[in-house]
Amino acid sequence: MSGFGKDWLALREPVDRRSRDAALLDRAVHAVQRQSPASVLDIGCGTGSTFRTLAPKLRGAVSWTLFDYDEDLLAEAERRHASDDITFVNGDLTQISALPLDRVTLVTASALFDLCSHAFMKQFVETLAWQRAAIYAALNYDGEMHWSMEHPADEAVTKAFNAHQLTDKGFGPSAGADAWRVLKETLEMCGFSVSIAESPWLMGRDDADLQRQFLDGVARAVSEEGSVDAAELRDWHQSRLQSISQTASLCRVGHQDVLALI
Ligand SMILES: C[S@@+](CC[C@H](N)C(=O)[O-])C[C@H]1O[C@@H](n2cnc3c(N)ncnc32)[C@H](O)[C@@H]1O
Repeated sequence: MSGFGKDWLALREPVDRRSRDAALLDRAVHAVQRQSPASVLDIGCGTGSTFRTLAPKLRGAVSWTLFDYDEDLLAEAERRHASDDITFVNGDLTQISALPLDRVTLVTASALFDLCSHAFMKQFVETLAWQRAAIYAALNYDGEMHWSMEHPADEAVTKAFNAHQLTDKGFGPSAGADAWRVLKETLEMCGFSVSIAESPWLMGRDDADLQRQFLDGVARAVSEEGSVDAAELRDWHQSRLQSISQTASLCRVGHQDVLALI
């Protein structure tokens, strides 16, 4: 179990999809289509959100490998997409030398690298460069959270949440909100041509369920982090939940997409 539930991933998928930078996504598609036959490896695939976004845009012979260490999520991906062109691999990304990178055209990932450490990214990118595989890593949280209706604790909560993001998520101390920048710089140092584009979640009333779960997760993390007074955090959480239903209330959560070609 990774701690990422199917329900959470299902809630975020439509918002992720509309938030991805369209031009970068098109260029990722183009990077796959340059090679025939092509092969895509989706790391930390969950139930297959990136596959569902990218695969319908691809033409010709493309084989996919969907890779995750969470057996339940991978089983759900397989239940939804079992086909001859897709291999499902249950494995741990931290075992970099065992990753199925042979002859991979493009590695894809979404909502993954903000969990990863500097050391993991360095070793992973060096391996990608060696294999001459491109990478499209979308939806990396960048540390920015803003609401159209402000609350006095917004800044303290965001700061505490970002500090909590730095804890170890299984890859060593996480790069958290800086991950996209670390990834970009590491890729550039290894000779990749890197493009970055913003992919923020913009959430309103219609995204109430995602907003509620997101706020619950933020409040839980901030409570664990401990720097925000408990009563202040309770007030922030309650007033944020209440304001979701108001037409004027909008929430923006920053993400960055990364595309690196070699
Ligand atoms: C935030 S979820 C994103 C899932 C999917 N890419 C999406 O956008 O819906 C992160 C995914 O990374 C996987 N993951 C985290 N650490 C991993 C590791 N060490 N090895 C393999 N998968 C891992 C989790 O199981 C989870 O499916």
